[in-house]
Amino acid sequence: MAFPNSRPRRLRRTPGLRRMVRETKLSVDDFIYPMFITEGEGVRNPVPSMPEVHQLSIDEALKDIEEVVALGIPAIDLFGVPHEKDLLGRHAEAGDGLIQRAVRAFKAHFPDLVVMTDVCLCEWLSHGHCGIVDGERILNDETLEVLSRVAVSHAQAGADMVSPSDMMDGRVGAIRHALDAAGHEDIPIMAYSAKYASGFYGPFRDAAQGAPQFGDRSTYQMDPANSREGIRELYEDIAEHADIVMVKPAMPYLDILWQFRQQTNLPVAAYNVSGEYAMLWAAANAGWLDLERTMMESLIGIKRAGADIILTYFAKRAAKLLGG
Ligand code: PBG
Repeated sequence: MAFPNSRPRRLRRTPGLRRMVRETKLSVDDFIYPMFITEGEGVRNPVPSMPEVHQLSIDEALKDIEEVVALGIPAIDLFGVPHEKDLLGRHAEAGDGLIQRAVRAFKAHFPDLVVMTDVCLCEWLSHGHCGIVDGERILNDETLEVLSRVAVSHAQAGADMVSPSDMMDGRVGAIRHALDAAGHEDIPIMAYSAKYASGFYGPFRDAAQGAPQFGDRSTYQMDPANSREGIRELYEDIAEHADIVMVKPAMPYLDILWQFRQQTNLPVAAYNVSGEYAMLWAAANAGWLDLERTMMESLIGIKRAGADIILTYFAKRAAKLLGG
């Protein structure tokens, strides 16, 4: 296998040959489209740092979902942008709460769409942390009780899957137990298993209005320097019966994604987060990058590294390019 007999360029000579030997293929089936749902009617607030992304009231969201479904995207994941917050997350678990109403409306109109819900308290707590606090301490086990009730309320509203993004210890097991006890043993859990304390969440915190008002998230989200700890989190979530495991963010953590792929046979998801989205848009708007080319290259890179499923704000654009 040496030059001049070996010439890798022979298989790159024409588009047809390149198509034949292409190893990784993106499909619209790979995508989950995250959406920000807010109160009111006729509300469509653009998120300044995330072009083409809006906070949508339920009626407006239905219009976007029609497009999502027409493009063949199989799933959406709902984040709440509530008007009312408190110290206990009561609005997150209300039977007639924002997300519960959204799930009912979306499933009624689009029964075949996979409607997933984010289970986390940061958008619902007045201080913006992902857990119940005592002073500046983020309480783990007390938070699990609330998260469990939130997950059950989403399942009761008809959610197809719940997705805890808080990084409290033991949340997958606690939610599994609560779902089973409430008769929802068929509802799967997509776990944010290795979620890093990342600066790339900046634009999301605009979008979801859930930035912490004191300190940061480094006592619960992971240190970006750690890879073995990510694998430890993976095994804990497997032991707690997660159905899908996730790495987040995606692009700066492709090595973690690759290790997840090697270590488990569960489906692996990656979250192409708000900052990854905003970076490409900002550079493209400055004329420095080609948006669609770098978007597709990012998504194929995430898939090549091991993701079966990609949460991405680019889902609609990418689906259009894929011929959806
Ligand atoms: C919080 C949550 C965050 C994201 C998803 N869920 C932000 C955070 O942890 O601060 C980030 C998503 C993104 O940046 O696109 N539960």
